[in-house]
Amino acid sequence: MKGILLAGGHGTRLHPVTVAVSKQLLPVNDKPMIYYPLSVLMLAGIREITVISTPADLPQIRRLLGDGSDLGLWLDYVEQPVPGGLAEAFVLAADAIGDAPVALVLGDNIFHGHNFYEILQRNSPDDIDGCVLFGYPVEDPHRYGVGETDADGRLIAIEEKPARPRSNRAVVGLYFYDNDVVDIAKNLRPSARGELEITDVNQHYLRRGKARLVDLGRGFAWLDAGTPGSLLAAGQYVHVLEERQGVRIACVEEVALRMGFIDAAACHELGSRQPSSEYGAYVRAVAEELS
Ligand code: DAU
Repeated sequence: MKGILLAGGHGTRLHPVTVAVSKQLLPVNDKPMIYYPLSVLMLAGIREITVISTPADLPQIRRLLGDGSDLGLWLDYVEQPVPGGLAEAFVLAADAIGDAPVALVLGDNIFHGHNFYEILQRNSPDDIDGCVLFGYPVEDPHRYGVGETDADGRLIAIEEKPARPRSNRAVVGLYFYDNDVVDIAKNLRPSARGELEITDVNQHYLRRGKARLVDLGRGFAWLDAGTPGSLLAAGQYVHVLEERQGVRIACVEEVALRMGFIDAAACHELGSRQPSSEYGAYVRAVAEELS
């Protein structure tokens, strides 16, 4: 399975912070925001990833992540000249996707929860038929794509930012698709707000009876970090857990090591490149523990 990390947009809700800096490079506690969605793709076992961002922000993101080889990944970079919608990602990355199935994750979505690795592994098979979406109960569903299921848990409707949501189940910014998604996206028409909507893609699969919604449940944390308040809350959440447990969430070096993408010596070397930060010390300690 190939991966797409969509990290564009203008971050206008965070202005003036994001006038000169990409939102996805802002810190969420101890690491750049983009580490969180990147680690999600890695935990799903995905190593070939296309990073999409604005022409202005892409060079900084590339400076951070390079070609991915340090983490045992293959990263390539594609510009999105204007924010044409989430589904445009499949059109922009069509060459990289080829005939493979594909996962899309949004660069400002943060996931954390028990069994997440198992959930990801279970729902991202290379022979995926249709799409897998994830639902999460929220207080304010009108801000999101919203999924409705019948009594047997089957997905029966998806709406984008409905004025009157038919459930409290937000569809989160992580999606797994078979390869048909490229053609579906190429044939979409822009919505009223001028974007290729991910919800239109998902409705396409729903009409074919090939869309599944997996509930992440209330014991799970799904956060977005697109406003000053939610960015601060996400940082506090990560800070509290990391301090309490002594482990780090979305430490990409650790994920690469645990997934077997790199060995302990390589991980230690990555930690040694950051001799003065606590983050670097953690990476070295993990490498020593697992060597
Ligand atoms: O966060 C989950 C939600 O993401 C879903 O529930 C919705 O169904 C989906 O439409 C999307 O809603 P948002 O209103 O949050 O989408 P937004 O336009 O804010 O874009 C999400 C992220 O993707 C944001 O960090 C900017 C980036 N983006 C957005 C667009 C439209 C791009 O990189 N390129 C784009 O063209």
